[in-house]
Amino acid sequence: MILVTGGAGYIGSHVVIALQQAGYEVLVLDNLCYGHAEFIEPQQLHRIDLEDRLGLDTLFKNHPTIEAVIHMAAFAYVGESVSNPALYYRNNVYGTLCLLEAMVANGVKNLVFSSTCATYGEPDWIPLTEDHPQRPINPYGYTKLVIEQMLRDFDRAYGLRSVAFRYFNAAGADPEGRVGEDHDPETHLIPLVLDVALGRRPQITVFGTDYPTADGTCIRDYIHVADLADAHVLGLKYLQAGGATGAFNLGNGSGFSVRQVIEMVEKVTGQAIPQQLGTRRPGDPAALIGSADRARSILGWNPRYADLESIVTTAWNWHQKRFGLPQSI
Ligand SMILES: NC(=O)c1ccc[n+]([C@@H]2O[C@H](COP(=O)([O-])OP(=O)(O)OC[C@H]3O[C@@H](n4cnc5c(N)ncnc54)[C@H](O)[C@@H]3O)[C@@H](O)[C@H]2O)c1
Repeated sequence: MILVTGGAGYIGSHVVIALQQAGYEVLVLDNLCYGHAEFIEPQQLHRIDLEDRLGLDTLFKNHPTIEAVIHMAAFAYVGESVSNPALYYRNNVYGTLCLLEAMVANGVKNLVFSSTCATYGEPDWIPLTEDHPQRPINPYGYTKLVIEQMLRDFDRAYGLRSVAFRYFNAAGADPEGRVGEDHDPETHLIPLVLDVALGRRPQITVFGTDYPTADGTCIRDYIHVADLADAHVLGLKYLQAGGATGAFNLGNGSGFSVRQVIEMVEKVTGQAIPQQLGTRRPGDPAALIGSADRARSILGWNPRYADLESIVTTAWNWHQKRFGLPQSI
């Protein structure tokens, strides 16, 4: 049995589906501060906070067959982490410490962790490889970096082995439309542009059109959430086969510019997207692209939905179902 923390969230709910498809029994721990109960079977969901040590111990004791944890529960708003770092160090770092202590106390020794490309900070080279220096430029990135260090220390001291997945930009939705992205507030480009296509927002602001990229807009690495979910199943199998603690990038290897994303949304939705051209945002590098060669060669990961059209099409199908049809239809 696998415990997924944050399993009622965007990426977590896709991971739960992938685990079940791979034949695993799954339990979800989520306090539903951002998660959606309807993404999960009611009998799977345990509404517990990471900081509730007693609740964690009881969960492990009541389910002695839990053999591994996939830890996705965290706060992930970069701007909020700058204005309220205490919230982030408490929820992400202290919350993870509580979870790790409970795992050690209950003899659960395998963990897959949701880290982030935000641990790298400004890139010295792209595509970013796992040996790139990790110099976060915001508290959110620091919380994840501290946790990566905690994981190495917990392995050395207590034999808790782990895989830290450094995700690039998760995007898209379950190709069968069962779950998808619904953050509130939403800060991710693709759902924001889809909101414009649906008439839920008047326009999209493009922050910076003078970057040294082909069309002047920022380039980011979008990775389909179903491909991310597959990687978690492979990470779990790697640990179960005795794999060593380590970190793996999960990205597309080729980025897409803001303008390319908007054009793809126009193509997929058939709607014109009004744009407002804004200035650069501080701390936004021109391009962030990750190399996932390590995950491909060691885990055998092979993303199935790497093209932008698949990413936007699955996101659009979900978005319409969740938020209503465009007004022109
Ligand atoms: N979305 C991305 O592009 C992206 C990129 C890099 C890393 N990540 C990481 O992936 C993970 C999942 O991201 P997401 O986009 O699915 O976010 P999400 O907000 O949709 O999911 C996080 C889930 O964790 C739960 N949660 C948060 N704090 C909790 C706590 N203290 N106790 C119990 N449950 C708690 C929330 O209710 C939510 O369901 C996060 O750890 C995030 O930092 C996401």
